[in-house]
Amino acid sequence: MGTSELINMLLEHPGQYISGEEMSRRLSISRTAVWKQIAKLREQGYEFESAPRRGYRLISQPDRLSQTALLHALAGNQSLGSRIKLLTSVTSTQEEVRRLAEEGAPHGTLVVAEEQTAGRGRQGRRWYSPPGKGIWMSLLLRPDRQPVSIAPQLTLLTAVAVCRAVRKFGVDAGIKWPNDILVDGRKLCGILVESIAEDELIRYAIAGIGIDVSLQLEDIPQELHPVVTSLQISSGRRVERTALIGAVLTEMEQLYQLYTEKGFVPIAHLWEALSVTLGRRITIRTPDGEISGQATALAENGALLLLEDSGNTRTIFSGEVQLGG
Ligand code: BTN
Repeated sequence: MGTSELINMLLEHPGQYISGEEMSRRLSISRTAVWKQIAKLREQGYEFESAPRRGYRLISQPDRLSQTALLHALAGNQSLGSRIKLLTSVTSTQEEVRRLAEEGAPHGTLVVAEEQTAGRGRQGRRWYSPPGKGIWMSLLLRPDRQPVSIAPQLTLLTAVAVCRAVRKFGVDAGIKWPNDILVDGRKLCGILVESIAEDELIRYAIAGIGIDVSLQLEDIPQELHPVVTSLQISSGRRVERTALIGAVLTEMEQLYQLYTEKGFVPIAHLWEALSVTLGRRITIRTPDGEISGQATALAENGALLLLEDSGNTRTIFSGEVQLGG
């Protein structure tokens, strides 16, 4: 027997305790079966309070994404999120968007998943994407006849959109070059923009966004505690994923429009204002070794300008930034 009858019974009595005995009587199942169903519901993200003799009380339900709620949250957008695919589980939302793009899906197609079984990070790394605990989504962008060289600009634009959206929820986020969103020096969100080109022009780009929403410290391996965080950990609050997806896509649509009308310069200014990298001493790990210096500015192509101790200015196109060093 499924758990729906039990959960319906608890939902009919909001905030009230129902004893295990009463549940067992009303559902015509044994006390052990009640206990097993409660355990199963806990695994699915339902939270209960239990008290001797009084029974169980439902505290909170899992934050499930729904197509209807997402469409509602994105109703104000003209193009981004005009088509939404919501999946319970997928290898990677990047793969799914790529498949849809090859079938001719329009600009602004969004794929959101509750879980990714092979989420991808930058530089071939895995991206941990457990069910229901974060926002794992990819957005299809079809820029109009743009050279591949603008791909880093799309990455920076996406970082600005996410950072501004997160800040709307009262979380003091900043951007570490090129595209990590940090809170209290720890990573809250990763962005992976992949572009598919033909004859040096972008056919389409896929902006992948992974935001850790309700991960708790116990969900994160101990060695990552100093470098990884979630909205739940950093703010102590539960942030509703649908609302945050809506905020990210709204920001993204506004910025993308600004970008198509006015180019990268205004986006670069917004990025600079949110940056935690500029003006700091940093160390960058590149394929050719480590370089240290002062991060001075963002170049128009999205590269980072680094003033080395020798007085030389280096242009950095990719690498892992460590603040300080
Ligand atoms: C990083 O390494 O910082 C980038 C992480 C990007 C993760 C997101 S989650 C949604 C989308 N699908 C993926 O497989 N990766 C991106």
